Amino acid sequence: MSDAVRFDDKVVIVTGAGGGLGRAHALLFARHGAKVVVNDLGGSTHGEGANASAADRVVAEIREAGGTAVANHDSVTDGEKIVQCALDQFGRVDVVVNNAGILRDKTFHKMEDTDWELVYKVHVEGAYKVTRAAWPHLREQGYGRVIFTSSTSGIYGNFGQSNYGMAKLGLYGLTRTLAIEGRKNNILVNAIAPTGGTRMTEGLIPPQVFEQLKPELVSPLVVYLGSEQCQETSGLFEVGGGWVGKVRWERSLGVGFDPREGFSPDDVAANWQRICDFEGAAHPADNVEALKEMMANLQKYTL
Ligand SMILES: NC(=O)c1ccc[n+]([C@@H]2O[C@H](COP(=O)([O-])OP(=O)(O)OC[C@H]3O[C@@H](n4cnc5c(N)ncnc54)[C@H](O)[C@@H]3O)[C@@H](O)[C@H]2O)c1
Repeated sequence: MSDAVRFDDKVVIVTGAGGGLGRAHALLFARHGAKVVVNDLGGSTHGEGANASAADRVVAEIREAGGTAVANHDSVTDGEKIVQCALDQFGRVDVVVNNAGILRDKTFHKMEDTDWELVYKVHVEGAYKVTRAAWPHLREQGYGRVIFTSSTSGIYGNFGQSNYGMAKLGLYGLTRTLAIEGRKNNILVNAIAPTGGTRMTEGLIPPQVFEQLKPELVSPLVVYLGSEQCQETSGLFEVGGGWVGKVRWERSLGVGFDPREGFSPDDVAANWQRICDFEGAAHPADNVEALKEMMANLQKYTL
């Protein structure tokens, strides 16, 4: 392995790469030597319609710059077709960047089943289908990198985005478990929560800021997470405008009651400040660490 991030002989799938962030990821992977499957259904931000030209244009751009890429126009909900395209065209798959996405913003009381379901289908089921189809190949070759695209709307919540927030944080739950299951086969799995000026955020971000939030300022992190150099797994990174930071869970040390006696709602009320006090907080890295304080409480009183 050389020091420089390179993808010679490596095959990368980027979903939703016909525009916005995905296009920037695909171009940067190709510039670093990857063979890229540029997937895009080419529909609207609301998830309506289809158009092959989006993916085709990005493939043309990559080829003009001397890179290698093929277009794929399937929906991510037909993930197996996208992976099959990588296998047919390039004989393998090494990196999956789950980036395709849509918005159906509505406040919860106006949310309709179709808005909820379509957002779930594209973001969660789509990312599942593509990754599930690639997984046996990554396992078999003992190498893989998978990147999911989460969002600050999932991590922190955002008005009018209950469907989108559910899907985006769901993808981080998927990231955490796939990181555990993939580790022994050298499949590393991470998630990003990007901010970029794209058609998805046009009109939502003030124009001067929008201009500066170039999609190209997200892709270097994605390409690093897709590389052999990257040994990180299970991570969640906020990225945008030339800035990158890592997110982690933080949990208060909490309050232990005597489990033999139980405790009342009034006990909860009386201890609320301590339950919510983050002084000396824990940062559990896994389930076992997460259960430490609870087990210590059991031990203190009963074991
Ligand atoms: N732009 C931001 O600030 C921001 C913030 C948080 C998360 N994200 C996420 O980043 C990702 C990229 O978004 P973007 O801002 O570049 O938006 P975008 O609309 O420019 O790009 C999304 C792409 O996904 C494609 N797509 C949609 N449904 C598809 C399907 N079923 N199959 C295949 N392709 C499909 C679209 O055609 C489009 O080209 C999305 O997952 C989005 O939710 C973006």
